[in-house]
Amino acid sequence: MSKAVVPPAAGPRKRKAGVSATSATMAVPVPEDQSFAQRVIDWQRRHGRHDLPWQNTRDAYRIWLSEIMLQQTQVGTALPYYLRFLDRFPDVASLAAADQDEVLQLWSGLGYYSRARNLHKAAQQVVAEFKGRFPADRIQLESLPGVGRSTAAAIAAFAYGLCEAILDGNVKRVLARHYAVPGFPGDSKVAGRLWQIAEAALPGEGIEAYTQGLMDLGATLCTRTPECGRCPVAPTCKALEENAVSDYPGARAKRAVPRRETTMPILLHGGRVWLQARPPSGIWGGLWAFPELQPGIDARDWCHSVLGLRLEGVQALPLLRHGFTHFSLTIQPMLCRVADQAAEGVRSAEGRWLPLAEALNAAVPKPVRSLIEQVMSLESEFLLDNNHWPDSMKKKGRS
Ligand code: ADE
Repeated sequence: MSKAVVPPAAGPRKRKAGVSATSATMAVPVPEDQSFAQRVIDWQRRHGRHDLPWQNTRDAYRIWLSEIMLQQTQVGTALPYYLRFLDRFPDVASLAAADQDEVLQLWSGLGYYSRARNLHKAAQQVVAEFKGRFPADRIQLESLPGVGRSTAAAIAAFAYGLCEAILDGNVKRVLARHYAVPGFPGDSKVAGRLWQIAEAALPGEGIEAYTQGLMDLGATLCTRTPECGRCPVAPTCKALEENAVSDYPGARAKRAVPRRETTMPILLHGGRVWLQARPPSGIWGGLWAFPELQPGIDARDWCHSVLGLRLEGVQALPLLRHGFTHFSLTIQPMLCRVADQAAEGVRSAEGRWLPLAEALNAAVPKPVRSLIEQVMSLESEFLLDNNHWPDSMKKKGRS
């Protein structure tokens, strides 16, 4: 495979006028003397996204918040969270002063909860160390928890117009294709090469449109199923020239995803469920969730020995799978009806009874929320009356 050609840092790149071999089939004229960056900028101004709620502002807080939410999350998913978040925390001081539980609650459902914990810590750091103003310096921005090089560069570009290179997942795909960089971008050597290219391709001016243009290209045209016919840099795209766009970026070497299993007792009592706070760090750190038992541990025994609760009925619900970055979790939910009188006496520092509707809005991880929804969809007589089991549940594995 041929080596990628790194473009000059700024200014026009010499190339032949006319129509390239690839563009001949797509009838895209090659603009003379235009750099990769200039074509991205022109395209962004004409065809890119301009009305996202974190655009058209220089408020570093709003920009930072959007960049953190958009790590590993698509625009459409992040949008309602972003607006709710801003409504509740309009500036960095209000976020810094909040309870972590409230921050997690507003984040609940977005996943990757370390982002929310870091967001909160970073707000506190901005207040304590930078007098409530996000620093106008990429390296200083990188000192904030949850802010890596690419995120810091995006904030620096959008909030302060600083000429810094970004390299998020979408941009890796654009550059890997355009410069035909082989290998998996998660490998440090490949990432190093892409960073070099990202730096070298920076424009002399128009960093905001360029940065947004790269993001927009990666999100709308240079996707898994690319639309090369509409791409402004198709005429110089090496992967397209090789007729090998789908070979870039290279895939991660296949590895087996470890599987874990857990049993989750859903303790139900008078329309309320029992939730426990997870330890502050680690998976679902600081969130509220059902207890987790090793597979094979009997929910009745556990409830009795740990919480001192007697169960009136136990019902297995369908298995639920949840994928994390590094493993896949299979959850066996067990719906456990707790005898009323016993439930009143439960005392546990890390647990609490919550009405179902409140539990749904608490800081709970996605699978826990979907289990709460399942329970809420059961007949109301079942939820409130210990002697009533819905027909649909009568035959299935009740003990
Ligand atoms: N992804 C990451 N940052 C983004 C932004 N500012 N606009 C759209 N998508 C993004």
